[in-house]
Amino acid sequence: MEIIIQPDVEAASRLAARFVARLIRDKSRAVLGFATGQTPLPLYEELCRMHREEKLDFDRITSFNLDEYVGLDPAHPGSYRTYMWTHLFGRINIDPGRVHIPDGLAPDIPLYCEKYEDEIRAAGGIDLQVLGIGTDGHIGFNEPSSSLVSRTRIKTLTVETRRDNARLFGGEKKVPHHVITMGLGTIMECRTCLLLAFGARKAEAVAQTVEGPVSAMVPASILQLHGRTIVIIDEEASSRLRRSEYYRYVYEHKPDWQKV
Ligand code: GLP
Repeated sequence: MEIIIQPDVEAASRLAARFVARLIRDKSRAVLGFATGQTPLPLYEELCRMHREEKLDFDRITSFNLDEYVGLDPAHPGSYRTYMWTHLFGRINIDPGRVHIPDGLAPDIPLYCEKYEDEIRAAGGIDLQVLGIGTDGHIGFNEPSSSLVSRTRIKTLTVETRRDNARLFGGEKKVPHHVITMGLGTIMECRTCLLLAFGARKAEAVAQTVEGPVSAMVPASILQLHGRTIVIIDEEASSRLRRSEYYRYVYEHKPDWQKV
């Protein structure tokens, strides 16, 4: 893993946007994986700015989202479809035909999940997957005890995650219990993973992910076995890391050709 500690959310998000933009400029048919939640919002804002002001062209990219709530009207303010079209897709020149967000209303969920995996494969796999992290260490919606080799499937949310995500539902009780999420095995096949985490409330999950043992109890820790994962965090999210000085030192002494 490469751990990059930035002074604040803005600097971290700008750096993450440069990773995404570099891929799109190098590979016009790039396949991008997107995450939702509060964390990637400044990244999406910066990508929209790059599209507007620097002509960053999303015309030929394909996208896959990590997850979606089951049984939720896609037009609901809490749905991840609403989120993506509000914060990113509606503001860039992406081809709607190449956007993939799990369909939480699919009548046959296991069959639909297999199809989602097929679509990722048919697109050539995901080049870069943006990830946030839950306070319980989940990525996508792979809650603690998820199989480390899991594929896209239905999951039941923990009480903690339903509480964390209650904001757009007008109360915890209205947050759906079930979701469709890419599995940890699916995420591990993405060529690059870009994990973002900001704020003190993520510090423990970040420390366990980066420096703890690989464990299904901290699903994000499986990324220790991924060949190219970049973790971009702010100062607060880095506060529980034991080797933060080393990560800063590595970043400061990168050879020029490795810098973004
Ligand atoms: C949800 C999403 C995750 C996201 C997590 C953290 O559970 N399914 O993909 O990483 O929330 O959200 P936030 O960034 O709002 O803290």
